[in-house]
Amino acid sequence: MTEKITIAVVGSGYVGLVASVCFAEIGHRVICVDNDESKIAMLRGGEIPIFEEYLPELLERHRNTSIEFTTDLDAATQKAQAIFVAVGTPQSQTGSADLSYVDAVASQIARSITEYKVIVEKSTVPVYTNEWISRVIERNGVPRELFDVTSNPEFLREGTAVVDFLHGDRIVIGVDNERAANLLRKIYEPLTSGEYYQMADSVPGARSEADPPPLLQTSTKAAELIKHASNAFLAMKISFINVVSNICEAAGADVEEVSQGIGSDGRIGPKFLKAGIGYGGSCFPKDVAAFRYVAEQLGVDFGLLREVEKINADQKRRFFQKVRSALWTFRGKKLGILGLAFKGGTDDIRESPAIELISQFLKEGCIVSAYDPAAVERTKEVLPPSGTLSYAKDSYEAATDADALLILTDWREFTDLDLDRLRYTLRYPIVIDGRNLFDRAIMAEKGFTYLSVGRAGGVHAKDALSSRLS
Ligand code: UDX
Repeated sequence: MTEKITIAVVGSGYVGLVASVCFAEIGHRVICVDNDESKIAMLRGGEIPIFEEYLPELLERHRNTSIEFTTDLDAATQKAQAIFVAVGTPQSQTGSADLSYVDAVASQIARSITEYKVIVEKSTVPVYTNEWISRVIERNGVPRELFDVTSNPEFLREGTAVVDFLHGDRIVIGVDNERAANLLRKIYEPLTSGEYYQMADSVPGARSEADPPPLLQTSTKAAELIKHASNAFLAMKISFINVVSNICEAAGADVEEVSQGIGSDGRIGPKFLKAGIGYGGSCFPKDVAAFRYVAEQLGVDFGLLREVEKINADQKRRFFQKVRSALWTFRGKKLGILGLAFKGGTDDIRESPAIELISQFLKEGCIVSAYDPAAVERTKEVLPPSGTLSYAKDSYEAATDADALLILTDWREFTDLDLDRLRYTLRYPIVIDGRNLFDRAIMAEKGFTYLSVGRAGGVHAKDALSSRLS
C-alpha cells in the first residue's frame, strides 16, 4: 500500500483542479487552494467550472473525504508536505510569461513554513523560475534546509485532462536533491507501480498494471525546459503540416494522404499532423511566445518559433480568404458556423481561431448563426448576440438558409450530421471545412460544393502549379 501524502495545490484552474482531483483519486489527501471565494464555494458544493470528462464523477467520489477546498493558503501550507503551484502564468505584453502570481504565492507560502516542505512548480514556467522562487522564499526568512523547489510539468490536454493525468506518456520530476525526489516519487507511486490500474473503479486508459507510466527524473531546469520545448515542438509540428497543406492545395494533392505518409515514419509519428485553421487554446500561443522570449533572454536566436507563430496567423488569414473566394462578397451574406471552441471536446474558447474568424466575418457585414455543443455560453460573454450574430440550438438551425456552412472546430458530433438534411437546410449547398471532417467524395456525391484545407479541389486549383511548371 502506498503512503498517503498531504498535498496542497494552489490554483483551481484547469491544471490545478485536475491535479487536485487526480491526486485524491490515487490515494492522497488534497487541499485545493484558490483566492477566488466564489469558485471555492462552487467547488465545495460539488459544482465544476470547466467541462471535462470524468472530473464530476471523481470530484463526487472524493469531495467530502480526501479533497477539501479553501481560500486559506497559510493553513494549507502548514498542513501539506508538498505544495504544488498551479496558478496562471499569462502572457505579458513582451510575450514573456507574467510570473506575478507565482511570485505572490511564493511569498505567502514562505510566511507559513516552519518545517520541511517541497514546493512544486506545476504551472508552465520559464527555466530559472525555480531559482527565483527559492530566492523569494529565502528573502522571506525561511532557512534553505526547510524547503526545496522542484518542477513537475503537466502535459494534460483539455477535454482529455483526467485520462492524460492518470495515463500519461511519462511523468517528469525535476529535482536537485534526493530528499525532494523521494517525496515526488512517493506521490506518483500509485501510478508508476501500476497499483492504481488494478483498482476496480480506476479511470480506464492506455496505461495498465503491466505498462505503467515511466518516471523521468531530471534536474529542475531540465524539467522546466521539457515543458516549454514539448509545447513549442507540437506547435511547430502543426505549423509544419499547415504549410504542407498549402503546398498540397497549390499542387493538387491531398494533405491527409501526405500526413499519413509522413506520420508512418516512426521517427516523426502520426500525431499533431492534422492540418486546419491553426492552433489555439490557453497553452500553445502563450508557451511558444514565452519560450521564444526565454531563448532571447539567454542570447539564443530561436527564429524558428517566430516562423511557427507567423504560419499560425497566416493559416487563419488563408481560411478567411478561402471563404471570401467562395462567396465573392461578404456584406449581407448569411454564414452558418459550426464550432466555437478552440478544439473539440472542450468549452474553452481562449485563443480560438473560430472566435477570431467570426469577429472578422461580422466586421465584413456577414450575418452569423453559430452553434457549438459546449462553448456557446462562454462565447456569448465575448461576442454577445446582436442583430447580426445569433446562436443556434443545433447544427441544422445554424445552417438554416445560410449561404455557406463553415466548420471551425473538430467536434465528433459534426461528423455524424445527416448530410441530406443539411443539404436541404442550407440556402446554397456550400460547406467550407477548416478541420477536414468529411470525405470529399461523399460530399460531392451528396451535392455539396465542399472546400477544405490542403485537399485538391480547394481554391487553388492544381492548374496553378501546372501552369507555373510549363
Ligand atoms: C496542449 C498540449 O497538448 C498539452 O500537452 C499541454 O499541457 C497544454 O497544451 P491543449 O491546449 O488542451 O493541450 O490542446 P491540444 O489538443 O494540444 O490542441 C491545441 C491546438 O492545436 C488546438 O487548437 C487544436 O485544434 C490544434 N491542433 C492539434 C491542430 O490544429 N492539429 C493537430 O494535429 C493537433
